[in-house]
Amino acid sequence: MSFSLTQLIEARQADQYDLHIKYISPHMARVQKIIGFDKIYARGEGAYLWDVDGVRYLDLLAGYSVFNLGRGHPAVKQAMLEYLDLERPTLVKMDCPLLAGLLAEELVRRMPPGLDAIFFANSGADAVDTAIKFARYATKRPRVLYLDHSFHGLTLGTLSINGGEAFKKGFEPLIPGATMVKMNDLETLEKELRKGDVGAFIVEPIQGKGVYVPDDNYLPEAQRLCRKHGAQFICDEVQMGLGRAGKFLCCEHWNLEPDMVTIAKSLGGGYVPVSAVIMRREINNKVFGHLKRAQVHSTTFGQNDMGMAAGLATLHVMDEEKIVERSATVGAKLLAKLSALKDRHEMIADVRGKGLVIGIEFRPPTNLAMRAAWTAIEAAEKGLFTQLVVMSLMRDHRMMTQVGGPGVNITKLLPPLIIGDEEVDMITNAFDQIMDETRNLKGRVWATSGELIKQAMTG
Ligand SMILES: Cc1ncc(COP(=O)(O)O)c(C=O)c1O
Repeated sequence: MSFSLTQLIEARQADQYDLHIKYISPHMARVQKIIGFDKIYARGEGAYLWDVDGVRYLDLLAGYSVFNLGRGHPAVKQAMLEYLDLERPTLVKMDCPLLAGLLAEELVRRMPPGLDAIFFANSGADAVDTAIKFARYATKRPRVLYLDHSFHGLTLGTLSINGGEAFKKGFEPLIPGATMVKMNDLETLEKELRKGDVGAFIVEPIQGKGVYVPDDNYLPEAQRLCRKHGAQFICDEVQMGLGRAGKFLCCEHWNLEPDMVTIAKSLGGGYVPVSAVIMRREINNKVFGHLKRAQVHSTTFGQNDMGMAAGLATLHVMDEEKIVERSATVGAKLLAKLSALKDRHEMIADVRGKGLVIGIEFRPPTNLAMRAAWTAIEAAEKGLFTQLVVMSLMRDHRMMTQVGGPGVNITKLLPPLIIGDEEVDMITNAFDQIMDETRNLKGRVWATSGELIKQAMTG
């Protein structure tokens, strides 16, 4: 009998959570059940998902920014089908593939001045690990500085520059020479740089976990200090790049000229994992600068034709549909409308972001009875109030969001960059209604707090 993916999915769809419980991650499956996210999705298109019963959900996670163009963009899909039909020889290895060269050319055109050499990899962490290695080699200095709250991936190298303890605990020892500094603290940054052993300072121009936006002078000054003290200034644009923050690269908000930039996620158009480090030519020359060193750093699937084709189609669509401009204008509308909710709902402490990355931070209410409810749930686990909001968004408004990091009362919106006015209104109305409902302690929002507290206590 021939293999049919369609038949296989039809026959086994109902088993998906059980298979994960048995073979992959029972805990993840349990979490999804507890918070009411245990849906069986059958279709995805644009900014929406549909479950097997035909219920539609607005996807405000976008695969953590993989689906900037929405799911199943017809032009990228067409490029994928065309690629399969062409039957081109990919991963020959001992050649210089055309599509990688073309994608490199397109990316360089969109970079800040001076970035004209590329290394292609497969994932965000893979790209960041590469940047760390290259910075060490190029500067002959071992140390890497990173920010509190930072997230650069979860491989051993990138975990070493993670700005929170939750991910690191128990995986030590991590790579030596990684030192955390606080965002906006230029004095400590310079103190560390002055030691003369720092190879790189790596930053997300806007931090994904918690959506922390630096003070306006911070990144330009940090870049200046890195230059002054001979350290590489690396912008990790894996999440904020490719239009997410309303510019092609988020670092353009401050006219930065980093030594290296990392990108990934939506570069593959939602079809293929592909990432890249774009760097100054001299860094590339130092690392690979001898015929014997030509393969000193590589990865098997780097430069694969399918990923490169997806990248080329993605950049084409971004230009054609003015995706970056759209992210900036629609994002500004959403930010303004959500910010206006602060006047009506005191529990909304802050609404921040740029383009279509928006963080909404909650704080305890002043009303005594409500405050007691907040304290009870937050005592069980910090950030659980936001989990109630996330659950309400899913249950009552069919919108998928997430708590914006471990132990924080922040939810992050990361919608596909193709959303429009309709979605802006849907999102704003949903938050407005949910915050209204929090005033009723017997209402729907607080209804699941007992169960969440129980689960947090029993683990
Ligand atoms: C800024 C940043 N860098 C790196 C990574 C790691 O990317 P990946 O999960 O593809 O390894 C992420 C993932 O979310 C990220 O947000």
